[in-house]
Amino acid sequence: MRYGHFDDTRREYVITRPDTPLPWINYLGTDAFFGIISNTAGGYSCYRDARLRRITRYRYNSVPPDSGGRYVYLRDNGSGQYWSPSWQPTQRKLDHYECRHGLSYTQIASAYLGVRAETLYFVPLDETLEIWRLRVSNERDTPADISVFSSVEFCLWDAQDDATNFQRNYSTGEVEVAGGVIYHKTEYRERRDHVAYFACSEPLAGFDTQRAAFLGAYRGWDRPAAVERGESFNSIAHGWSPHGSHHVRLSLAPGETREVVFLLGYWENPRDQKFDPPGSGVINKALVRPVIDRWLQPATVAEGFDRLRESWTSLLSTLRVDTPDGDANRMANIWNPYQCVVTFEMSRSVSLFESGIGRGMGFRDSNQDLLGFVHMAPGRSRARILDLASTQLATGGAYHQFQPLTKRGNNDIGSGFNDDPLWLVLGVAAYLKETGDASILDEPVPYDNAEDSATALYVHLERSLRYTLDRLGPHGLPLIGRADWNDCLNLNCFSDTPGESFQTTVNKDGGGAESVFIAGLFILAAKDLAEIAERRGLAGDASSYRAAAEKMAGSIVEHAWDGAWFRRAYDYFGNAVGSSENAEGQIFVEPQGICVMSGIGVQNGMATRALDSVREHLATAHGIVLLRPAYTRYHVELGEISSYPPGYKENAGVFCHTNPWVMIAEAMVGRGDAAFDYYKRINPSAREEIAEIHRCEPYVYAQMIAGKEAPTHGEAKNSWLTGTAAWNLVAITQWILGIRAEFDGLRIDPVLPAEWPGFTATRRFRDATYEISVRNPAGVSGRVGHLLVGGESIAGTLVPLAPPGATVNVEAVIR
Ligand code: BGC
Ligand code: NOJ
Repeated sequence: MRYGHFDDTRREYVITRPDTPLPWINYLGTDAFFGIISNTAGGYSCYRDARLRRITRYRYNSVPPDSGGRYVYLRDNGSGQYWSPSWQPTQRKLDHYECRHGLSYTQIASAYLGVRAETLYFVPLDETLEIWRLRVSNERDTPADISVFSSVEFCLWDAQDDATNFQRNYSTGEVEVAGGVIYHKTEYRERRDHVAYFACSEPLAGFDTQRAAFLGAYRGWDRPAAVERGESFNSIAHGWSPHGSHHVRLSLAPGETREVVFLLGYWENPRDQKFDPPGSGVINKALVRPVIDRWLQPATVAEGFDRLRESWTSLLSTLRVDTPDGDANRMANIWNPYQCVVTFEMSRSVSLFESGIGRGMGFRDSNQDLLGFVHMAPGRSRARILDLASTQLATGGAYHQFQPLTKRGNNDIGSGFNDDPLWLVLGVAAYLKETGDASILDEPVPYDNAEDSATALYVHLERSLRYTLDRLGPHGLPLIGRADWNDCLNLNCFSDTPGESFQTTVNKDGGGAESVFIAGLFILAAKDLAEIAERRGLAGDASSYRAAAEKMAGSIVEHAWDGAWFRRAYDYFGNAVGSSENAEGQIFVEPQGICVMSGIGVQNGMATRALDSVREHLATAHGIVLLRPAYTRYHVELGEISSYPPGYKENAGVFCHTNPWVMIAEAMVGRGDAAFDYYKRINPSAREEIAEIHRCEPYVYAQMIAGKEAPTHGEAKNSWLTGTAAWNLVAITQWILGIRAEFDGLRIDPVLPAEWPGFTATRRFRDATYEISVRNPAGVSGRVGHLLVGGESIAGTLVPLAPPGATVNVEAVIR
């Protein structure tokens, strides 16, 4: 069953009924001002940091769901009837409803009582404000007298404090209303230099800034008193809950359309120019007013929207593919790169499942996000790499997260996730392969942001590897620390205290818990760093990294091969995890993916054996589950993984992030049918038809789909902010289609399903454009047998770098 459809030409998903199984959301903003918006206009906005600079309120896990948003109410003053043109919050049954989620914008259109309304929401490039452009049309054959009410509820900045510290916050709220603009200025009197503002392009019939006045006692967003009576209260908030609502009256002739622009913005004044007059406590509006005036102009809005759309066209033009599979094309060309940009910007902070309070930018997460982003925006990737590396510790370890506003490591969660530093090597390598910009390696970068601690970035990478090598366990495998990629495999934590965090609690000393996953990751990182060292003229370093990688591979083969698959870990006591010896959790997906990706067993059959085991034990119609059999009881020696009921999340859910590792591994062993089959199983577009089972948005990946042992097998959760986005883009474009940036050229090494006759693609790479055409005349899942570059046959599959500005034709034939 579907709740809408894709409009590929406009790069939109069109939702045609408002009551989707869950709120289906989209993101606004591309730089500093961000927000989420649901298909019924729910959601919130923030400036840079969703915890520390929250602009509007949203109530997570509310009843009814999705409460708080960018609401517009319309009231037919003739009959007194009122409704929400976005359906929520009044839930009046509309005659027509359509939500179009596009790239960084959402447009919700509806009709009711012969009045059509269309609201376009977006954040213009380089601005710290969002626009709601409302168009109201009278489709009746008589005049219509319509009241428009806007509504936002301001957050008192720190979202955590706002949701808990009521004894203070009920007294601090302050606003100003001037020149038709509502300013939210809580704490501006003291240490804050920023305000939020809510402006409207039309003359106001009234306004409200105190929530209780606007709504009326004991009422919800579904029936605000001001809207019901058709008149604002002109309330000024003193404490309690500052709110923003404008009232505009429109007299519409039959067939007439009027446009009303609302702006919700964030503004920071220089500290010495905060007040006007100085010392008065009144906001100095001289700097912000011109911005407001400009963006209230319909022409500026239209132009800003065009610029936003063009910027997406340009971002997405780095790589375009045309394959025989429509779902793959749609995801690879539009939605998957879009999700990669969003995950890069938001890390794991703001979604329907991430409250914006709990988590900053993950060190591991952000490095992986780069893998799906770097080809679109190398400049921003470079800046992110330097920010991330600045939170690395002098030991080579890393803070697990940092706060985007301060760029400081987050002490609440600390460090000790022993895989973290290795991801930095992969992130930097991806940047170097994409750009060839070796200067980044010489950038001075501090440790833990400490003054005078800087070394060249290259040294950070060395320390990352050293961190692993300094921490090897009894089998020569890396010690796991708090956890590795799997945050829930807490082999040293031994928690038996209810509610204690598995990830931050004091770990038990003295054990030798080892991670096979980190071992595989180390090999990938060491190989990358060897290539980097070689190009820096450090042949000695390069060979020592290669030797370390080889030694690690030896330890895996010797101690982590279980007979038919790779083991997952050794626990605190030295017992195998993910082995046929275990009663539960016999086989895990992560080591099968990462060990094959690192090259182990690709030549001698071990890799295909492991992948056959994945198919036999882990593959389901809804994707590959993380492990089998699920843990049915709590294992204190394993930690959070066994805290989830069977089939959910890390306990045998289809943890989508890991699936592309298997796709890549299948491609590496030359099995294109298997690789693409797995790709298709979790492709959200391909799952659109089963939206009532999948339930999350059909245009983006979810972190998890409930596994085989869950009662709700096939149901997705935690959509949007997941490493699944980057890795699936990598799997389909770089390994199945085989178009990979490498240090010295563009690799063309597709591993296709046998039935594909071929595909074409365009890739912009280091300032040249590659027009790629791959044919598979024999209908096999083989490898490139013949490669023509500019009509000339070349040996191998690496297309050498073309001069800037060149367009190069690349033709490959599969054999
Ligand atoms: C989740 C993990 C997540 C971790 C972050 C756990 O509860 O299951 O997926 O990585 O929290 O701290
Ligand atoms: C989500 C976290 O963001 C990510 O860092 C982790 O690797 C996965 N969960 C698996 O636990």
